[in-house]
Amino acid sequence: MIKFLDLAAQNNEIVIDVERAFAQIHETTSYIDGPPVAAFEAAFAEFLNVRHVIGVASGTDALRLALIAAGVSAGDEVITVPMTFIATASAIMQAGATPVFVDIDPATGTMCPRALQRYVESRQWKSANGPRAIIPVDLYGLPAPMNEIREIARGAGLAVIEDACQAHGARLTCDGRWQMAGTVGAAGCFSFYPGKNLGAWGDAGAVATNDDELAERVRRLRNHGRISHYAHADCGYTARLDTMQAAVLISKLKRLAKWNARRREIASLYRQRLESTEVDLPLEPADAESCYHLFVIRSARRDLIRASLLEQAIDCGIHYPVPLHLQPALRSLGYQEGDFPVSEHWADTVLSIPIHAHMSDGEVEQVSRTIEDTLARQAARTDEPDFGAEESSTHTD
Ligand SMILES: Cc1ncc(COP(=O)(O)O)c(C=O)c1O
Repeated sequence: MIKFLDLAAQNNEIVIDVERAFAQIHETTSYIDGPPVAAFEAAFAEFLNVRHVIGVASGTDALRLALIAAGVSAGDEVITVPMTFIATASAIMQAGATPVFVDIDPATGTMCPRALQRYVESRQWKSANGPRAIIPVDLYGLPAPMNEIREIARGAGLAVIEDACQAHGARLTCDGRWQMAGTVGAAGCFSFYPGKNLGAWGDAGAVATNDDELAERVRRLRNHGRISHYAHADCGYTARLDTMQAAVLISKLKRLAKWNARRREIASLYRQRLESTEVDLPLEPADAESCYHLFVIRSARRDLIRASLLEQAIDCGIHYPVPLHLQPALRSLGYQEGDFPVSEHWADTVLSIPIHAHMSDGEVEQVSRTIEDTLARQAARTDEPDFGAEESSTHTD
């Protein structure tokens, strides 16, 4: 059995630290806003090299509160991509705005700046006020092309809120230097869902920003709009980062760079092993460094490869089989099949194969060999002499 992700192995590394921290929390009963919250925020801000990190209850809350704090409200549009987890769009709806999609780049899977530019120039808005913000998504851990997106946003007066929920420790070059994903827009939003590169033992998230006012607004909104214990400047939310989760995150953050480095090693092994096969491997542009939250290959024979992997007890997944514009939950937006052909093609061909910090080279070899053998067997079948239409049809997928 090859696991897609090994949370138990992560836990083995941190359990002593975390138990000690939990004992202290129980002793002080500081379950809400205890010292680990501020300690984690400071440590993650240092890791990202950003002025503020505000811990919240989930990645979805991070996106929702960052949008509201950036001034997004009813009647506004927020531009994003259809090839992402539903929460990117749900957060826009929760902020009262309308999600509007532009297609992804066929090479990288992240927002296509040309498609964004076309939409912004079209002035064919779907809601009363037109666009107010853009949410580029760092899909699978690869930073979106923030330089181009920021340029377009600046020209159109739009805020950029980066969905970095899959990109803890990914980097990109911006303003001539390497910077962490989630730190170059007005705000970057992180999820600490357990399976993320930096994951809690439950739900958690954070907003990162260099904007003092935006930080203050998010800080207020996460805690009932409080300015003092019983004075409230806004009707806010119960969206605080839990103290226990903060303690887990402090411990895992210490290991994140090491764990991400191992993920990059595994990605490089997969590249070496699979580059001669027909599958499309994830592209990493020269100005970006993925943290390989997922290692996603693409193939017209995706379902066949997936079936072979599962048969060999190798876990794998599809992120995502249905692009957001075709999700029943978003039917009211009025999109149809064919509206975003690149996203639809990706949804039909993507396959996430196992990658995690505790995976061995032998396991990478076994996954690669299974993919290689499956494709070779299939090629041999389709190369067999054609003795008649009926027989040949049984040999194709
Ligand atoms: C791209 C993306 N955006 C948003 C989210 C939402 O995060 P959460 O599940 O913590 O609310 C996720 C989490 O899976 C995600 O992958």
